[in-house]
Amino acid sequence: MKTRPCAMMFFVNQEKESVSQMKKKSLRLDKVLSHVGIGTRKEIKKLVKAGRVRVNDEPATDPGMHVFPFEDEIEVDHRPVLYREHIYLMMNKPQGVLSATEDAVQEVVTDLLEPEHRVFSPFPAGRLDKDTEGLLLLTSDGKLAHQLLSPKKHIPKVYVADIEGEVTDNDIHAFQTGITLEDGYTTMPGDLHILHAGPRSTVEITIYEGKFHQIKRMFRALGKKVVSLKRIRMGSLELDPDLAPGEYRELTAEELNKLIK
Ligand code: URA
Repeated sequence: MKTRPCAMMFFVNQEKESVSQMKKKSLRLDKVLSHVGIGTRKEIKKLVKAGRVRVNDEPATDPGMHVFPFEDEIEVDHRPVLYREHIYLMMNKPQGVLSATEDAVQEVVTDLLEPEHRVFSPFPAGRLDKDTEGLLLLTSDGKLAHQLLSPKKHIPKVYVADIEGEVTDNDIHAFQTGITLEDGYTTMPGDLHILHAGPRSTVEITIYEGKFHQIKRMFRALGKKVVSLKRIRMGSLELDPDLAPGEYRELTAEELNKLIK
């Protein structure tokens, strides 16, 4: 499982004023440590009592002491603690897994996360169908997720699909003008590029909204069937080609900054 941590990304991913405000804010040591998954408050109390927690190279004596989590050097068992408020993960969602945080029966994307990431309670920002693979952002940052998913923002989402049947210039035109689905809804214009045309075609699609099963329904309305679908981009965020299905990693500071803009 790929999990490349992105140290210090918190300093660069916020507006200037809020960064300095955040850096100045002190928090209880036990709160900081429990937030990043070191343990419960009770467990942290024991760690402190055992002398296993150090702040700026001094043993911590009080779990309730205030620290500056972005500035102070905090260590547990001589290992540095990387504080972050939220987590931002790029996953190559595999087929067969639900874009959800829980399900009574089926596997969900958060089941694929390591405990150190699960502790932030991330959720998928948007959904891919169970049989769709590709780029899925998981985050604990509700504000960012809301912005990305806002129908008003028209964030472009790019997919590659295999289609049963020959995709033609007529289909490109239909995507450009909007396609009326089986329920009467007419989609916003999208872009369709033919990468390969034949009895089974390969296409790249960009849509600017996110209706339920949208791409499958758009092709169905054109009399064609999507046989495989993979998301490769969402706004500025591109799927890392090094991530195999089921793998994930934290966003880099650069990716996060672009996304927030
Ligand atoms: N359109 C679909 O039909 N399915 C997806 O998962 C995403 C877009």
